[in-house]
Amino acid sequence: MEKRAWWKESVVYQIYPRSFCDSNGDGIGDLPGILSKLDYVRDLGVNVIWLSPVYRSPNDDNGYDISDYRAIMDEFGTMEDFDALLAAAHERGLRIVMDLVVNHTSDEHPWFIESRASRSSEKRDWYIWREGKDGRPPNNWGSAFSGSAWEWDETTRMYYLHCFSKKQPDLNWDEPAVRDAVFDMMTWWCEKGIDGFRMDVISMISKRADMPDAPLEPGMLYGSVMAPGGVCNGPHVHEYLREMNRRVLSRYDLLTVGETAGVTLEEARRYANADGTELSMVFQFEHVGLDASPADKWSTARVPLPALKKNLAKWQTGLEGQAWNSLFFCNHDQPRVVSRWGDGSPQAAKCLATALHMMQGTPYVYQGEELGMTNCPFGPIGNYRDLEAINAYRELTEAGLREPEELLEAIAFKARDNARTPMQWDDSPNAGFTSGTPWIMVNPNYPTLNAAAQEADPDSVLQYFRRLIRLRRESRWKDAVVYNRFTLLDPEDEHIFAYLRPGETPLLVVCNMTPEARLYRLPPEVPAGRAELLLSNGAPLSLGPELALAPWQAAVWAVVS
Ligand code: GLC
Ligand code: CA
Repeated sequence: MEKRAWWKESVVYQIYPRSFCDSNGDGIGDLPGILSKLDYVRDLGVNVIWLSPVYRSPNDDNGYDISDYRAIMDEFGTMEDFDALLAAAHERGLRIVMDLVVNHTSDEHPWFIESRASRSSEKRDWYIWREGKDGRPPNNWGSAFSGSAWEWDETTRMYYLHCFSKKQPDLNWDEPAVRDAVFDMMTWWCEKGIDGFRMDVISMISKRADMPDAPLEPGMLYGSVMAPGGVCNGPHVHEYLREMNRRVLSRYDLLTVGETAGVTLEEARRYANADGTELSMVFQFEHVGLDASPADKWSTARVPLPALKKNLAKWQTGLEGQAWNSLFFCNHDQPRVVSRWGDGSPQAAKCLATALHMMQGTPYVYQGEELGMTNCPFGPIGNYRDLEAINAYRELTEAGLREPEELLEAIAFKARDNARTPMQWDDSPNAGFTSGTPWIMVNPNYPTLNAAAQEADPDSVLQYFRRLIRLRRESRWKDAVVYNRFTLLDPEDEHIFAYLRPGETPLLVVCNMTPEARLYRLPPEVPAGRAELLLSNGAPLSLGPELALAPWQAAVWAVVS
């Protein structure tokens, strides 16, 4: 069996504070708002909260551009509010994992202000400065948020690198003083008593010195910084993480998860190695990238089920015994999965959740996922708030690469703002999120889709999530759910996602991933024995050679003898 660890037995709930709960009517979620909803989070059965960034920030990228790592964003409250939240969470048995954004800072961070002041500034080398090439940027890299990844700075007449917006200059991790400053700051938070870090784009912190152009494909204005050979998994990334582990992480009992864009199986086995010399686990993105092309993510393509299943299985078996998986379909950067891979229905939300949570790894629930919250009909580009979508729309239509209408449809399907509409608490105005004007539109389906209504309905998505999480956290089957291995069944089946969790008590998971009723014939790999139904979102289903599954029906059995 895998080595035991509390973070392997955990379920994490991600909160995007700006959109969770507004306590003072300014239209922006805040820390007192989160505090007021802690019982709701506890009652879901999770034991860890991942807070998206709450640090001081000019909010070019909603807090992923930090100007002070030791202060709280003004709109979110004060450090006293944070301390109160941490204490109240701990009282309820909830741990708090902080977002650690240290690939870059805000351009308004004092470090960058000092760095850009002169070529001889003491902090000059804290960021990545380069001369231009024949009056143009040093290479062809484009930022993840459109435009060149290089910004010309008139004061010292050089370019600085920003893999994200120009207000997010990349730190230079090769500079030892940068690592000292980051590790000091992390220690300061650990001493406060936080329980871990989710490390933003941590696979990008080590840049290769030569910085070659990235390949250009048709339809691309810039080479992608994320392309192999670009900034991901650079030459010293493991060395720096091991140093971080030695100097900070190993001194505390933490859950650490690296957001590792562009990670391969081989790399993930190093980042999340079972010896614990780097991180507990990583987020990899292959499964949520299957419906995008390397040129851009803006498409309405649907992933064929066999491709999705095989990809998930590759990570399940590829890390087995060597590293630990994180399980997610949703976060603040992804559209709502029930709209993306489902049909928006409550049954689809339950089915997708079952498919996800019964695999091996630590599951992450993104706020509102437990209600089956859907993509939002934003309409015109003016209703979006995210710089990624807004910039892409401008850049791609102005260059004549995309037709506005067609692009808008793809943005509606894929935009990050789909995940960022306010949490739907009840059917009062603005879904009970704020008494003021919300910073981003509320999904108009809130009068029927909200937490209060689902609290009262035993068949709701919310109640199903509670059962699903309890199965992993509290039931007599919990060791099997957490630690059993994984075997994919019928990889080519286009409608059914079925897998086994072999182990002392084998589990069988069958999910009808379509809106039609289906018959499923059990394959020979399913062990014989008396089967006990542990969970289903449909009529009780006994295990026979052929299963008649209702639309989006999912079921989990234990084979007990
Ligand atoms: C990560 C975050 C995303 C942010 C980006 C830059 O991918 O999840 O929201 O925009 O990093 O910090
Ligand atoms: Ca507020």
